[in-house]
Amino acid sequence: MVAAGTAQKLTVDSQVSAASITNRPKVKYRVLGKTGLKVSEIGLGGHSWSYKQVPDGKGGYRKPTIDEAVRMIAAGLEMGVNFLDSCTPLDESSVPGEALKRLGKRDKVLISIRVSHKMKGRQADKKEIYKWTEKRLKLWQTDYVDMCLLCNTANDTTQSGYWDMSYSIEALDKLKQQGKIRFTGFGCHFTPELFLEAFDKYGDYFDIVSLPYNIRHRAAETLLSAAKKKGLGVITIKPFARGELLKNRDLRGADAGLPRDMISFVLENKLVDICTCGVHTIEQVRENFSASWTKLSPSGRKRLEKVAATRITDRRYAWLEHGWRYV
Ligand SMILES: NC(=O)c1ccc[n+]([C@@H]2O[C@H](COP(=O)([O-])OP(=O)(O)OC[C@H]3O[C@@H](n4cnc5c(N)ncnc54)[C@H](OP(=O)(O)O)[C@@H]3O)[C@@H](O)[C@H]2O)c1
Repeated sequence: MVAAGTAQKLTVDSQVSAASITNRPKVKYRVLGKTGLKVSEIGLGGHSWSYKQVPDGKGGYRKPTIDEAVRMIAAGLEMGVNFLDSCTPLDESSVPGEALKRLGKRDKVLISIRVSHKMKGRQADKKEIYKWTEKRLKLWQTDYVDMCLLCNTANDTTQSGYWDMSYSIEALDKLKQQGKIRFTGFGCHFTPELFLEAFDKYGDYFDIVSLPYNIRHRAAETLLSAAKKKGLGVITIKPFARGELLKNRDLRGADAGLPRDMISFVLENKLVDICTCGVHTIEQVRENFSASWTKLSPSGRKRLEKVAATRITDRRYAWLEHGWRYV
């Protein structure tokens, strides 16, 4: 039995901690284009769960555990984040799905899945979309997702773009009727020119577009007004070019706060609705989401100029250097 005095103390303590959580700054919200959804302007990226980026203590790296994911997602939600992205790898759905179940917070977040298929107007596209979606619903442990974004398959080239989406649209409509997805979008490693073509051809049907944008790779700036003309919600990805722009920086010294500033830069663009970032520690969660209430200082801007001038050399991200550089 708890003594009366203890119970009173517990109540006071929990009020104090509830108040201190309430008084902490929270991320701001924007409206995700024609979906009308109120979304946190920073989102939690799915690659956080599928890339091996946590030191394993043996000189190598591992993926975050479910317990770590629970702590990171809980910290993000506490800061007001309500958008969870997932790309095509299965653990980008299974890990946050299990974490949300343990936290009991499915109804507090908006979930986005990505479905990969050929986009070539083939009837087989429909089956492919149903199959991918069903699998992801299971992994997220939910009956519906808020957003389903189409992207191309790993074997497609950047030129194999949006030729004919007729069958894909038919499949998405059916999934909507069944209440399995709420809104649809597209986004991929295509060229900026193909995005423009896609806005023109399919912008009336889709609700959302997702494309890369960071201080060095700024071609999105030439596309966003066309996306907005179609009412598309804009989700940007790769604020750090998958960490490449943070390589060899003194993040604990002279460059402390640089990742936060790189997100602040993206958020200065009011045509962006959500900036989605990958993270692998709870410290990265806290730093990155604080960009929502941290304004860029003149010295912060100067530091960003240096980052913008840094070429990235990892061949996996060559597509960003070739197609997406523009100022
Ligand atoms: N096909 C698609 O449509 C597609 C493609 C790409 C991305 N996306 C989505 O967009 C999201 C974001 O892109 P991304 O994850 O590829 O790249 P990103 O957000 O540009 O980079 C993430 C990496 O940056 C580093 N980082 C993040 N915060 C940091 C901090 N505060 N301090 C130091 N380092 C930090 C981490 O690398 P370290 O672990 O090395 O520290 C992290 O893994 C993805 O997670 C995914 O949801 C979708």
